[in-house]
Amino acid sequence: MGNVAVLGVQWGDEGKGKIVDFLAQEAEWVVRYQGGTNAGHTVIVKGKKYILHLIPSGILHPGKKCIIGNGVVVDPPELLKEIEDLEREGIEVKGRLFLSETAHLIMPYHKKLDALSEKLKGKKQIGTTLRGIGPAYSDKMARTSLRVHDLLRPERLKERLEETLRVKNLIIREFFKEEGYSFEELYKDALAWGEALETYVCNTVHLMRKIIKSGDLVLFEGAQGALLDIDHGTYPFVTSSNTTVGSIFTGLGIPPGHIHRVIGISKAYTTRVGGGPFPTELEGEEGQRLRDRGGEYGATTGRPRRCGWLDLVALKHAAWLNGLTELTITKLDVLDTLEEIKVCIAYDIDGERTEEMPADLDTFSRAKPVYKSFPGWQGLVKGTTNWEDLPTQARTYLEFIEEALNIPIKMVSTGPDRVETVIR
Ligand code: GDP
Ligand code: IMO
Ligand code: MG
Repeated sequence: MGNVAVLGVQWGDEGKGKIVDFLAQEAEWVVRYQGGTNAGHTVIVKGKKYILHLIPSGILHPGKKCIIGNGVVVDPPELLKEIEDLEREGIEVKGRLFLSETAHLIMPYHKKLDALSEKLKGKKQIGTTLRGIGPAYSDKMARTSLRVHDLLRPERLKERLEETLRVKNLIIREFFKEEGYSFEELYKDALAWGEALETYVCNTVHLMRKIIKSGDLVLFEGAQGALLDIDHGTYPFVTSSNTTVGSIFTGLGIPPGHIHRVIGISKAYTTRVGGGPFPTELEGEEGQRLRDRGGEYGATTGRPRRCGWLDLVALKHAAWLNGLTELTITKLDVLDTLEEIKVCIAYDIDGERTEEMPADLDTFSRAKPVYKSFPGWQGLVKGTTNWEDLPTQARTYLEFIEEALNIPIKMVSTGPDRVETVIR
């Protein structure tokens, strides 16, 4: 199948975890390259549910190996907890997980600052996952952050932590008037994290080079979605990393040319958690119906997801940015009971019709969806594994999407379980 990238092309939670787990059967390596514990990737295998935040979803396949690349921001106690939870379930992680020595760390003060700055924003909150993502990536860019290998070098750790904590405590205590952090305690904790993680740490850039040269198949697991991209998403209502395809190269240290398929994952409708404009959002009963049927509550925070119709204008933008070679539509079964299904084919902005997603948020906020309507199938798509067994109306809906985007739909997900998947 070649090396495959699996990328969210909406506002996250498209079902990437399920698809990565499904495709992992064919790959030797599954790798994460951006994002952090803000990701919540759900995989259901034989009725058992796993939610992964940092460890690639391939870990659930015995024998497959996983990498957390340099572009990921790593929260050490959360990673240790995730390893422990998996091992408690009988899933061996040691020897199968490789952690980049140059990945930047999410520290406890990042989580606190995430919460404090959200509070400060009041009504203009982004609605972050409060996992410290923004503050951690900010420190990375400001060149003040700690990296995984600092945890393994006590002297350097001491020096760098003292330096950075001085500033963090100043902000937390003097500006926010909150309790700061004791250097001694944090230093002790950090040394313990280093000790526990050491066995996983390596130079993943060298490792990736060896893997690619050997011809072993790699699955690149994206986190978040294109519309949350720091450059190309609905800024400032975005996450703090590039969620589009370029992150694979920088977040792992590989040159272009080694990705053979780029699969965009989209739900058959749209969801979004947190603030920011969402033209096709359905408020009230219609939105609630999708939320109930789709179980649309965040895998990381449990927050209800905002729900609405599929938006082809936004999808086209995401498809271009990522150079998608194919599309996978998930959660088709959620539409099973609907009489009518709508899809947004253009925006009306101040009386003018456009098929381009505007970059300016104020303009995007005024976008009113122009819909095309489809009859629902009101039958059972749930669990279907054959394209031919999908109801005609469902196929018509999917064929319209692929024609509009000019990208083939090669997989359809018809339920959360690994086996509930149509390969066309
Ligand atoms: P991710 O962040 O992209 O991996 O997606 P999440 O795991 O956060 O959210 C997707 C949710 O939809 C999870 O609860 C999945 O178990 C579930 N899911 C995935 N695919 C399907 C599907 O085809 N049908 C249904 N009903 N649920 C699905
Ligand atoms: P997966 O990988 C959905 C959203 C948050 C918020 C914004 C910024 O599971 O698809 P952050 O904590 O990153 O600073 O929050 O981004 N967000 C996600 N929404 N799925 C995710 O990840 C998300 N990760 C962040 O809700 O609106
Ligand atoms: Mg998720």
